[in-house]
Amino acid sequence: MIGGRREGGLMRKASQSVVKSRILIAVAIIGCLFAFLYPHGFLSFYSPAFHSQVLSSKCESSHRLNELKAEYAAELEKNEELRQQVKELTEKVRLAEQKKDHAQKQIEALGKWRKAGPSGTVKGLRTNPTVIPDESVNPRLAVILEAVAVGRELIVALANWKVKESLEIWFTNIKRVGITNYLVVALDDKITEFCKSNNVPVFTRDANDGIASIGRTGNNHAVSGLKFHILREFLLLGYSVLLSDIDIVYLQNPFDYLYRDSDVESMTDGHDNMTAYGFDDVFDEPAMGWARYAHTMRIWVFNSGFFYIRPTIPSIELLDRVAGRLAKEPKSWDQAVFNEELFFPSHLGYEGLHAARRTMDFYLFMNSKVLFKTVRKDDRLSKLKPVIVHVNYHPNKLQRMKAVMEFYVDGNRDALKPFPDGSEWEW
Ligand SMILES: *[C@@H]1O[C@H](CO)[C@@H](O)[C@H](O)[C@H]1NC(C)=O
Repeated sequence: MIGGRREGGLMRKASQSVVKSRILIAVAIIGCLFAFLYPHGFLSFYSPAFHSQVLSSKCESSHRLNELKAEYAAELEKNEELRQQVKELTEKVRLAEQKKDHAQKQIEALGKWRKAGPSGTVKGLRTNPTVIPDESVNPRLAVILEAVAVGRELIVALANWKVKESLEIWFTNIKRVGITNYLVVALDDKITEFCKSNNVPVFTRDANDGIASIGRTGNNHAVSGLKFHILREFLLLGYSVLLSDIDIVYLQNPFDYLYRDSDVESMTDGHDNMTAYGFDDVFDEPAMGWARYAHTMRIWVFNSGFFYIRPTIPSIELLDRVAGRLAKEPKSWDQAVFNEELFFPSHLGYEGLHAARRTMDFYLFMNSKVLFKTVRKDDRLSKLKPVIVHVNYHPNKLQRMKAVMEFYVDGNRDALKPFPDGSEWEW
């Protein structure tokens, strides 16, 4: 800080004296011009010939002009020296601040300073500490969560009247599996009433809440953007949230299958070990000859319709970053933004998020591509019961949700047969 101010002072002084000498020179030049008509014109003052022309002229101030020129040159040199010094100092300060910053952050994160152990025993931090709960952010919600959550965690879904039928399947399965810690954030009054009449825990946002109106009228994508905003309060209140879309059939209790070691633990859009968990995708550029193969890191995106998020600083930063970008870029897709914020590293002009991530098992937390393309056709895989099935890859959600129930709950082995692998809807 002190270093920064001092450099600022040096800079200002240097540039002030340069300005002063520039003004003096300009005055002298104009004086000369008015006394004599120069054949080379005004611009010649700036040419190398300027020096000798001035000396040979009869301008009375030419002597003074030369002095000024010399002064100016000296000032320029001094200025350059100062600039160099300032540059070096700035760089030193930047490096020092960076070191201090990193060290401080690490000590804050780890709680104590320690040595690394032998190879194989060293493990970085992925389970960040949770924030201190702040009930003042939403006392009404705090009361509800106190009653509904189990072990300070719960399933949360946003719903408006448009998804009423899917919602019914959603909570019917949740109840059947015996999950009690779940909550519907109702985006309109009809859905509030619907939940109440079905004994489904529901939270209705204040009518004058600016974002409540988006929920009432919004399409799927608008509602998806909303959830990052709404989730924030849950985390500030100190709860871990399993955020759930409505087009999900619960077959087991997901809280029995979580690791809880990362800021974000998410189901994947991937369909096998590589696409779900990451792989080296080699890009071939034959023109490069010996170096034709470029290795790239790839992973199918996290599904932003089903993820477990712990109430930590990186998690809250993630929600804020995604909500902020969705507000600024209304055409962007929330799932793409969610993944970009989670995965892109820091680079020039951009500070990446440092959140710990875990991909859920894609057979347990199954997307509908895995089910319809692979699992239903595989004798062994089709006998394993997933924790949830998310009908994310197909448009006729209601029919497929019902078929998933028939298949896994009622044991009808033919229930999935009528459906094509993909959707029949063509672009
Ligand atoms: C995928 O990974 C799991 C766990 O590492 C492994 O057991 C399984 O054999 C892998 N499957 C394939 C097809 O490689």
